[in-house]
Amino acid sequence: MDMEGVDESFRVTPWEVEGVVDYERLVRLFGTELISDELMARLTSLAGDSNHMLRRRIFFSHRDLNLVLDDYSAGRGFYLYTGRGPSGPMHVGHIIPFYFTKWLQDRFNVNLYIQMTDDEKFLEESRGLTLEDTSRWSYENMLDIAAVGFNPDRTFIFRNTEYLGNMLPLVLKVARKINFSWVRAVFGFNEQTNIGMVFFPAIQIVPALFERRRCLIPAAIDQDPYWRIQRDIAEGLGFYKAAAIHSRFLMPLTGPTGKMSASQPESAVFLSDDPKTVRKKIWQAFSGGQPTVEQHRRLGGNPDADVAFQWLYYFFEEDDRKVEKLREDYRSGRCLSGEMKEILIEKVTSFLEEFSRRREEARDTLHLYTRDGGLAREMWERRHGLD
Ligand code: TRP
Repeated sequence: MDMEGVDESFRVTPWEVEGVVDYERLVRLFGTELISDELMARLTSLAGDSNHMLRRRIFFSHRDLNLVLDDYSAGRGFYLYTGRGPSGPMHVGHIIPFYFTKWLQDRFNVNLYIQMTDDEKFLEESRGLTLEDTSRWSYENMLDIAAVGFNPDRTFIFRNTEYLGNMLPLVLKVARKINFSWVRAVFGFNEQTNIGMVFFPAIQIVPALFERRRCLIPAAIDQDPYWRIQRDIAEGLGFYKAAAIHSRFLMPLTGPTGKMSASQPESAVFLSDDPKTVRKKIWQAFSGGQPTVEQHRRLGGNPDADVAFQWLYYFFEEDDRKVEKLREDYRSGRCLSGEMKEILIEKVTSFLEEFSRRREEARDTLHLYTRDGGLAREMWERRHGLD
């Protein structure tokens, strides 16, 4: 099988990440583009603000981002689409891309659609989840997502098991354009794959056709195979090819291989972890330090392998000067692994404290994002006007 995103040393598909990902190689395998300094400068200037995840190339790759910016400049606008597979509790690695998405929404004042794929997580048989499980996780995860604080007038969060009827006409138009050998090649399906999984890509593609303007998808790079199919069929159906902006993965607490997962609780900090658990998990995290303090002072540590530093760099320390000083101090041995961990514990704990307050408030505001009025109504009216 020669799926794209699979190399001798790593494997990135929408369902699994194994090994140490070589992101530059992945960009070549997927055929996406690195975000150049020039493109970042253009995005920053139109946004009227700079973003640390862009500066640090946590969002590092894209498709057609330049065209999105052309559309914005020309007044045609664009819209955002992202999603979540509700298979369990969300961890910090899951929520961080939503903060970047909020930054985009606020800066460009655009519509945002968020798809909850409770159908997909049920169909992935190896997860062993019932429909009741995925529907409950959907609700829990929607509270997490609502806690991020999107613009309620411009955001629609929907679960596939509820909303599919509304999407079905478009899902069918998409499904008719995709044959089995295509999804088999893209996703690695085989004769044993259940037919729900074989059909599912049509459902994840459709929100990238919700409006008759360009769709920009902020998501981790493992979701790119869907957008590639969308891009091959969109124009034939009278829509724009989707644009995408791709993130790297947050390093698991257990070290540089694979990705964080709910089945391995020590690999991740969950949004519901209490301060004691956070402290314990980060304290046990993989470190780039030397075995003894004496050696560390003398030889210095490796910030590239140090999970605490990597988490600060990825998201938790916004100040570039501070983060670069930490990198240098760690490399030179001035900063010890325990000190780096303390800094991260403080950041993550205060982030989660604020987050859980907002999540409680979201119980009262969730309906603003899920109602079938608002953006959902506007979208269908606009569609039908144009169809
Ligand atoms: N398949 C994604 C997951 O398992 C969920 C998803 C649906 C998604 N639509 C999306 C993610 C759009 C990013 C962008 O998590």
